Amino acid sequence: MGESRFKALVLEEAGGKVASSLRTLEDQALPEGDVTVAVKYSTLNYKDGMILQGLGKLVRKYPHVPGIDFSGVVEKSESARFKPGDEVVLTGNRVGEIHWGGFAAKARVKADWLMRLPKGISLKQSMALGTAGFTAMLAVMALEEHGLKPGGEGEVLVTGAAGGVGSVAVALLSRLGHRVAAGTGRADSHGYLKDLGAATIVDRAELAAPPKGPLGPERWSGAIDSVGGEQLGNILASLRYWGSCAAVGNASGIKFTATVIPFLLRGINLLGIDSNTCPMERRAGAWARLAKDMPLDKLDALTTTVGLAEVPGLAGKILQGQVRGRTVIDLGK
Ligand SMILES: NC(=O)c1ccc[n+]([C@@H]2O[C@H](COP(=O)([O-])OP(=O)(O)OC[C@H]3O[C@@H](n4cnc5c(N)ncnc54)[C@H](OP(=O)(O)O)[C@@H]3O)[C@@H](O)[C@H]2O)c1
Repeated sequence: MGESRFKALVLEEAGGKVASSLRTLEDQALPEGDVTVAVKYSTLNYKDGMILQGLGKLVRKYPHVPGIDFSGVVEKSESARFKPGDEVVLTGNRVGEIHWGGFAAKARVKADWLMRLPKGISLKQSMALGTAGFTAMLAVMALEEHGLKPGGEGEVLVTGAAGGVGSVAVALLSRLGHRVAAGTGRADSHGYLKDLGAATIVDRAELAAPPKGPLGPERWSGAIDSVGGEQLGNILASLRYWGSCAAVGNASGIKFTATVIPFLLRGINLLGIDSNTCPMERRAGAWARLAKDMPLDKLDALTTTVGLAEVPGLAGKILQGQVRGRTVIDLGK
């Protein structure tokens, strides 16, 4: 049995503004659920930045404990699927949005949302990957299912490459034998991205420049786009024949302009990725792939570890594209 008091980052709303504070809560404050987890690690994702700043109407009720993912050890369970001592991982399922999340040393959730820690990775590594890494893996799987193979002509483009999803995608694709082009707006990240396995660096401004007509030069054999906005239309126009782009994020905006021409004349695909509601079987498959295919030395290189108290100060930074790689929150710090 663990302590009945635990630390948590709590959000309150007043006058339309959301503010956070570090508090000590009692077990009775936890929401309903059949499994109570002693949270060891959580992470900072783009969506956490939005929630911490009260953006996007993602949280319905305050006070709220954010944190869209966590890993930890089961403390109590009313579900036959888990017992005290089991090591578990949770990402998505709207935890941290409409249900209290992982920015606390304890969480109470539904057993259906939890997964066992994948074999071959530690609790900390599971959160170094976290929602961003899981999403990058879903994007890689979607591209593979639509014909992407290593050794083909052209490069696989990763946009927002120095961010969380982007960094994991670069390391994964490179490990899987693809030639990776890393799209970034940060000149000081070029060395970092090459160390993760990028063969080429593409400046964000180049990706933002529209092609002269509905088709650009045939360039990308596939793409993982965490940036969205108008550059997504440009990427589609520059995919090679039968190439696919996995649309993952909207760090630069939600609207884009495209024509049907690359779909009709080059047979391209635009693939949507939703990590939040991903069914459990595919989820487990993606995590098993991560445990097998993610180079763990590269994972260490792209991870920074912080304590809960440092999190509010990072919220604005991740939204402004100033956080590099992945940020793990160590609840024991
Ligand atoms: N579909 C899903 O299930 C899912 C899951 C996880 C995340 N996401 C989304 O994926 C995106 C990335 O998430 P993340 O956690 O990796 O965030 P992140 O760490 O902040 O990475 C985003 C990256 O995008 C680039 N960027 C930021 N602002 C930009 C702008 N205005 N114009 C062009 N590029 C910009 C930056 O990369 P450079 O510095 O390299 O340019 C930044 O590091 C977010 O939109 C997030 O909501 C979706």
